[in-house]
Amino acid sequence: MTGACFAEVGHQVTCVDNDRAKVEVLKSGGMPIYEPGLEEIVARNTEAGRLSFTDSTAEGVEKADVIFIAVPTPPLPDGSVDMSFMERVSRDIAVAMKGYKIVVDKSTVPVRTGEKVAETIRRYCKAKVEFDVVSNPEFLREGFAVEDFMRPDRVVIGVRSQRPVAAMKEIYKPFDAPIIVTDINSAELIKHAANSFLALKISYINAVSIICEATGANVLEVANGIGMDPRIGRRFLDAGIGFGGSCFPKDLSAFIHIAGQVGYDFRLLREVQRINAEQMERFMKKIADTLWVLRGKRIGVLGLAFKQNTDDVRSSPAIELCQRLLHEGAILRVHDPKAMTKARAILGDSVTYVDDMNAVAEGCDALVVATEWDIFKKLDLDRARKVMTHPIMFDGRNLFDPVEMERLGFVYKSVGR
Ligand code: UDX
Repeated sequence: MTGACFAEVGHQVTCVDNDRAKVEVLKSGGMPIYEPGLEEIVARNTEAGRLSFTDSTAEGVEKADVIFIAVPTPPLPDGSVDMSFMERVSRDIAVAMKGYKIVVDKSTVPVRTGEKVAETIRRYCKAKVEFDVVSNPEFLREGFAVEDFMRPDRVVIGVRSQRPVAAMKEIYKPFDAPIIVTDINSAELIKHAANSFLALKISYINAVSIICEATGANVLEVANGIGMDPRIGRRFLDAGIGFGGSCFPKDLSAFIHIAGQVGYDFRLLREVQRINAEQMERFMKKIADTLWVLRGKRIGVLGLAFKQNTDDVRSSPAIELCQRLLHEGAILRVHDPKAMTKARAILGDSVTYVDDMNAVAEGCDALVVATEWDIFKKLDLDRARKVMTHPIMFDGRNLFDPVEMERLGFVYKSVGR
């Protein structure tokens, strides 16, 4: 993603991955992930000779003045971060370095990782060449990654000296974004602090949704009302079944862990996690209270991805919901516009996969909306009502209008309304 977008603005990019199969797919014009717009950019820039792929770190390092590290930093069971990929690639780069390089960390990492990377490179670089380590966290949302990359709100560059600054600014010049030059530790912290704050916003509105439900207020109206205050902002104030994905849950855990290591119990963020988990419980309870017995009930689930515009099902609330419903003995018919293949790897044959979203409702006792795909708003509700045994919908993403749903004859339950 980073490589393709840098090539798109005219830079010469070599993408390195030690997964040979992935490199082969990319070389032959394929795309191992679904990300809107990315395939075209990769094709265009490969064709133009600005973008190439290799599984050789040595080759990548040799060709580059600036090396971006974008390896996974997955969570460990205790909430800390697995830094083994980061360590490995730092060593590989060190071994391959023959002259001055700028090594830029784009992965989300605990504060003070830059120091470790520098130490590792110094240790393993036999050629003893000079280098600079830079922290340059990325703030891409999956599904909007190209858009976010091409039009960033800000570019954060963490450095130890002024030496790499000019080159970094040059790289980001075509993007016309405000550039913040700061120290490495602050740059690393910005990423965890930003993601935790966004997760906090979601948990806040989810907590407010509980009060709304209990008092007859409407959480959408409340979100719109408070969101118009520019100090608050409307984005990330959509109540639902909670946040998931490969970033928020892991970054929260990591930040709590980092805080713990410096002796601070970040209870505020633990509460953010708790509210998020509780939101799922409450939604399950809503379904169970209405359907009474879940065993043997046929339920249609719309959405499997952790959010719209992606095929990613990692830490997906929708998948968790399916697993919980299955655990209670429900029979599931599921659909997702992009994530069916990846969902199958987790759910296997325990559910029925339906290719047409309008066919999901057939014979169902209830429909559940689990992911906020815009396309679901175009669901043929008349048809759904006719083919269901009971027209009941649990809308975990507040996609439909309660008044309209009632008019159409649905028993309709959403979140905070
Ligand atoms: C996030 C950050 O937004 C991004 O800046 C960072 O670089 C990586 O982590 P991403 O995980 O791709 O991006 O998804 P995002 O759009 O932030 O959504 C995360 C989760 O929050 C999804 O499960 C989504 O459904 C949920 N969400 C989001 C809500 O429940 N309500 C909202 O208002 C917004």
